[in-house]
Amino acid sequence: MRKQIVAGNWKMNNGLIQAETLISELKQQNQTSEAEVMIAPSFTNLWHAFESTRQYPIEVVAQNMHFSEDGAYTGEVSAGMLKSIGIQTVILGHSERRAYFNETDEALAKKVDTALKHDIRVIFCFGEELADRKSGNHETVVENQIKNALFHLKASDFEHIILAYEPVWAIGTGETATPEQAQSMHAFIRKTLADKYGQDIAESVSILYGGSVKPNNAKEIFSKPDVDGGLIGGASLNAEDFFAIVNAF
Ligand code: 13P
Repeated sequence: MRKQIVAGNWKMNNGLIQAETLISELKQQNQTSEAEVMIAPSFTNLWHAFESTRQYPIEVVAQNMHFSEDGAYTGEVSAGMLKSIGIQTVILGHSERRAYFNETDEALAKKVDTALKHDIRVIFCFGEELADRKSGNHETVVENQIKNALFHLKASDFEHIILAYEPVWAIGTGETATPEQAQSMHAFIRKTLADKYGQDIAESVSILYGGSVKPNNAKEIFSKPDVDGGLIGGASLNAEDFFAIVNAF
């Protein structure tokens, strides 16, 4: 059975004080679902978040990392650095990284390799832009993003990969993919995996949906058979809203 996961991507929000407050509020929430819960604070808050959630079923994950082991890459953070503070999962390929920091499929393939080499689990994000959806190219775009960054991997590597479909037009816009649109794309993603790696692998990989998931729409989206959870932006900055989504399973 594949895992249900709800991950909060804090993006570039929360200084130390706000992070402390949000984490202490998160720790007071009551989890009624079985979903794995993750939060992704910015680098400056990772250590504090990791330390203060040790006794709680909340995994602290990173929002990004570099593909090199170390060296002259001013401003970057390596896989080894993440591991050194206990981080075991990293988000890679977020559309904001692709759009604003020119992250290419090629660079992402290298990042994925580096993460796996360090035994770091990857939440690999991808998704089409509005123009792709309007022109009917959304499946091709998504298929290429997955193939270009992941299809050099061995089947067994997929134990350490979580996929996150985030249509760019639904991120931070308040406009969500309909549950049917999400299900249809997730089923397509699973078929793409099955064609390359076989049905067993395809059935074992968790595929999260991201893009304006809120307490009032999470249940319907999560009820779809190929939607295994969510990657939550805005609503993850409020402890009650975030746990309403965690408990929507
Ligand atoms: P929103 O939930 O704010 O739309 O953000 C989604 C997202 O980008 C999560 O990574």
